[in-house]
Amino acid sequence: SGSSHAGHTKYDFMVVSNRLPVDRVAPGDDSDDGSGWRRSPGGLVTALAPMMTKTDGAWVGWHGAPDETVKPFSHGGMDLVPVQLSTDDVELYYEGFSNATLWPLYHDVIAPPEFHRTWWDAYRKVNRRFADAVVRHADQGATVWVQDYQLQLVPRMLREARPDLRIGFFNHIPFPPPEIFAQLPWRQAIIDGLLGADLVGFQRVSDAGNFMRSARRFLGASVKQQQVHVKDHNGQLTHIARAQAFPISIDVKQISELAARPDIIERARQIRQDMGNPKTILLGVDRLDYTKGIRHRLKAFEELLADGRLTVGDATLIQVASPSRERVEQYRLLREEVEGTVGHINGTYDTLENTAVRYLHHSYPVEEMVALYLAADVMLVTALRDGMNLVAKEYVTARNNNDGALVLSEFAGAADQLKQALLINPHDIAGLKNTIMTAIELSPREASRRMRSMRRQILDHDVDHWSADFLRALNEKVVRDDS
Ligand code: G6P
Repeated sequence: SGSSHAGHTKYDFMVVSNRLPVDRVAPGDDSDDGSGWRRSPGGLVTALAPMMTKTDGAWVGWHGAPDETVKPFSHGGMDLVPVQLSTDDVELYYEGFSNATLWPLYHDVIAPPEFHRTWWDAYRKVNRRFADAVVRHADQGATVWVQDYQLQLVPRMLREARPDLRIGFFNHIPFPPPEIFAQLPWRQAIIDGLLGADLVGFQRVSDAGNFMRSARRFLGASVKQQQVHVKDHNGQLTHIARAQAFPISIDVKQISELAARPDIIERARQIRQDMGNPKTILLGVDRLDYTKGIRHRLKAFEELLADGRLTVGDATLIQVASPSRERVEQYRLLREEVEGTVGHINGTYDTLENTAVRYLHHSYPVEEMVALYLAADVMLVTALRDGMNLVAKEYVTARNNNDGALVLSEFAGAADQLKQALLINPHDIAGLKNTIMTAIELSPREASRRMRSMRRQILDHDVDHWSADFLRALNEKVVRDDS
């Protein structure tokens, strides 16, 4: 870990994200790992934790408990620097601007984004607090890697306070086309915030393209290929910011080793038996979020039962929906809708032996998730818009025997890499139904051909590969592109 001066430990590598990899739990909560902490939800933590356990750096972020001040500490081999959020910050910056303005705006306005000046003020103020924490702990010339949509102003703030730093940014979610981004009243400030970085990473090539088009349109930036020449008030070049795609991935070794463990294989068998040994188990695993297309998935499955193309003895859908952002209105509405629909489907089609949908509003440890991946014949990823979707990559990685089928939305970033998945448009319910049937009926030969090809892709591009690629590009000497 880092050196200490002026009372603060200094680091030459820092990651900054809204969330730390651990989340404070209330005493007595059954998700406690025994230390008063549990693993934080979502793809960002899944992807970054493996790198940070192997790196001598610090992770700056929020520890999940409003109003609680926590001193820097270590957990799971990582140095963590907590940033405090008050109850108001949580409401205005996190639930408000991050998750009721930016999240829906960046996901194709599936839900209507709300624009409130008080939320924006809180967003700026909290971004400043994260930047200040970095400034205190970053050694001269350190590399700082800022993560995701909650912290888009931090790169600019860091550059102004500490021009000595190497500043990277990675956006884990989609970046919308300029026609949609245009709605944001603070669009210039956001683009300007991001352009404070030396390198801005995105999941898809199309996200990087969207960002560059917005930089040109809303800031009049001079965009040359993948570069923006960023100038100060006097028109002097301060630095070159680059935008590029770096598709994120998972810890392949961890997942495939768990999938080979005899106790986990046995657990998968047990799960199938507990479900009444249907011929086919379909699986959905998502944070309970309106971007994930859970309602479209349920609709397609219900219609297959109604049409008689499936019975509950043929197929059961296990839907894990992990609790998420439960105080945000759109998430409450979604939960009610999904739970109403599941109750309706089960009431109509269940028998005493079999259930149509086994709905689980929980999050589970990774061992149990891998057992579920092994128990499932068909994985359904039907997102309406998703930056990447690591669940798709985890499922494929867990299938050590090259069997199973992945139904994957073309609106998930993972579709750019997993071209041998059964790709679907989740809005096309008829097409989705047919593809689910194709997946159920896939010949072992065809399933294996597709799975092998997808596994090869992921095995060659695990998350270490992702972070190494990004950091290599961040530290590379930039050749000015004047073409
Ligand atoms: C997505 C976002 C992350 C976020 C995660 C969980 O993966 O890209 O930034 O941390 O969802 O959401 P939460 O609001 O609980 O942090």
